[in-house]
Amino acid sequence: AMQRYRDLAGDKMNPFAEQEAWEDHQIGKATLQYGSKNKKRSDEYQYVFEDQIDFIKASVMDGDQFEDGQPADLLESRAKSELEKLQEDRKTLPIYSYRDELLKAVDNHQVLVIVGETGSGKTTQIPQYLHEAGYTKRGKIGCTQPRRVAAMSVAARVSQEMGVKLGHEVGYSIRFEDCTSEKTVLKYMTDGMLLREFLGEPDLAGYSVVMVDEAHERTLSTDILFGLVKDIARFRPDLKLLISSATLDAEKFSDYFDSAPIFKIPGRRYPVEINYTKAPEADYLDAAIVTALQIHVTEAPGDILVFLTGQEEIETAEEILKHRTRGLGTKIAELIICPIYANLPTELQSKIFEPTPEGARKVVLATNIAETSLTIDGIKYVIDPGFCKMKSYNPRTGMESLLVAPISKASANQRAGRSGRTGPGKCYRLYTMFNYQTELEDNTVPEIQRTNLANVVLMLKSLGIHDLLHFDFMDPPPSEALLKALELLFALSALNKVGELTKVGRRMAEFPLDPMLSKMIVASDKYKCSDEIISIASMLSIGNSIFYRPKDKQVHADNARLNFHTGNVGDHIALLKVFNSWKETNFSTQWCYENYIQVRSMKRARDIRDQLEGLLERVEIEQVSNLDFEVIKKAITSGFFPHSARLQKSGAYRTVKHPQTVHIHPSSGLSQVLPRWVIYHELVLTTKEYMRQVTELKPEWLVEIAPHYYQLKDVEDSVSKKMPRGEGLAS
Ligand code: CDP
Ligand code: MG
Repeated sequence: AMQRYRDLAGDKMNPFAEQEAWEDHQIGKATLQYGSKNKKRSDEYQYVFEDQIDFIKASVMDGDQFEDGQPADLLESRAKSELEKLQEDRKTLPIYSYRDELLKAVDNHQVLVIVGETGSGKTTQIPQYLHEAGYTKRGKIGCTQPRRVAAMSVAARVSQEMGVKLGHEVGYSIRFEDCTSEKTVLKYMTDGMLLREFLGEPDLAGYSVVMVDEAHERTLSTDILFGLVKDIARFRPDLKLLISSATLDAEKFSDYFDSAPIFKIPGRRYPVEINYTKAPEADYLDAAIVTALQIHVTEAPGDILVFLTGQEEIETAEEILKHRTRGLGTKIAELIICPIYANLPTELQSKIFEPTPEGARKVVLATNIAETSLTIDGIKYVIDPGFCKMKSYNPRTGMESLLVAPISKASANQRAGRSGRTGPGKCYRLYTMFNYQTELEDNTVPEIQRTNLANVVLMLKSLGIHDLLHFDFMDPPPSEALLKALELLFALSALNKVGELTKVGRRMAEFPLDPMLSKMIVASDKYKCSDEIISIASMLSIGNSIFYRPKDKQVHADNARLNFHTGNVGDHIALLKVFNSWKETNFSTQWCYENYIQVRSMKRARDIRDQLEGLLERVEIEQVSNLDFEVIKKAITSGFFPHSARLQKSGAYRTVKHPQTVHIHPSSGLSQVLPRWVIYHELVLTTKEYMRQVTELKPEWLVEIAPHYYQLKDVEDSVSKKMPRGEGLAS
């Protein structure tokens, strides 16, 4: 079961994948049980138990310390003001007792590796301590997070603790959203944003301290940051560098940073009872739901944390849980369901931190974000299906896919540990002990070794770092992946033959987008349609959460969606039409409802578009509008020509370079049309390798636009006509 990869559709919602998910998980049995109104309550209650999952208790993690240092007496603190209480709370964190020692260590050493268990207070407290100690007089303190939600929520928490307005002294910066001001001295940001700051300020002169937090996550941006901050620390002796991590594997960081000292914050941890399933679970989502209900009905008070792989899955689980608890009515205590994932609207994010009311129980449905980035108090039970969404990259073909894959042992242990923070906990692993022991890797492979590097290579080139093979990587990427990135950037004319950045490349690097999208924008200058192209780019950037398809109104939703596809204009133009129509209604929310479009996504697209407008100006591209679809498609092709595919007799497609069989995603407006030639935005692997966001093109454009990449023989239609059935024999 651990080898089973499931559909995954980015963190975004795609109407069809959602539908598939429903069909997979909405489980005939649940619908039957709860669908009929005349069924007796008691039967339904029974159901929870019939459906029980057998766990075997395996081992008990050794809890090293029991501590009674619980937050001050509730009554007492209620009397105090909110701010005072927060100040009291700060003092209960494990890190508090090491405050002075830590400050001394930072004072004495330029680079410090800090290790402390999740929840010990590293992220929220260290920047405040340094601020209190005066470091912000010399410059900002920057603290990076691998995840947007973490950057936002931690900044919000710290601004509360300091009693200031978010965006003033304490702010955050994530892609397309800058919540900082001149006043800001504590800046939480994604690692990717700090990376971009190097472009404008290569020595980070505005910072007195940089804290690379959650270093153990080893995201691509964090790994590149390591190399860059290590380099600037050499000629900026006044800059303090903190590398903080939740895992004990800190020697590696210390070695890399020239034997920097390691500061350990002893954590408080209670024992966690680990339970494994007796047999592999065929459907982990269902198993997770059943387990959550089982805990809710049978176990002592304490909140539940369930690790799922993405938004779609979380929404499905939320729906089913609501459905089933509703069926149980007042027979069970209230179950408060709190989802948390990257795209969750900010106003809903704080819900997970609200204390659970007496008599109720909270179940948090989270992505990996709750593994180490966020700490939710009160969790006593963890349900771990053993999967997460993972990027993988094939350097041979240059294809990237996001897959649901088994987690590592290190992750499994982090997850389990989340239940033992405030008292003894229990972890339910929805896999067998044998799975754990034999099938899980010890550690997750760093992202740099399993991703497309084009973006990072373009950035490093813009920073003047040319010799990438000798860049000081903590773990080097595969050299084929580096070569592939160089090849792509050359094909996009961002680099010249000797690997130097071109004018096009310099312009592209200004955009915080994937190089193909940036190229499409830069090329729109030539085609005089930049206005349309930035609309399309913004719509593509928000992914697949534009349309929604409620279960009971699928036909209406589909019709509304198809309206934008009139004339088989292709998905890119359809996105443009959606944006333009919305704009014509003066950005009406009502219009979105009527057309089954998510207004929240549209607002985000509009924000992104506003920023792209600013960037156009910066790279001196005139904003001009041209609604000639052929011209717009040519501009798209200028960025996406490597993603071309040709129809086969079988009805499948074959990519032109690096031939591979692919299909048009069922959510595409062209899925029934099957044009001979298409370009696609991205590939997603679900049950098949699907192209998502597809537009028809004329094959001669490929040769016209990218003569260095395509030759006439690549695009001759006759080849495919002569080709015998069976796709294996393509040219
Ligand atoms: O970084 P580390 O995992 O060591 O801990 P932290 O994120 O600084 O969290 C310390 C404490 O702050 C947590 O135990 C939470 O109680 C609290 N916190 C919160 O209430 N809300 C947040 N958004 C973040 C932290
Ligand atoms: Mg943290």
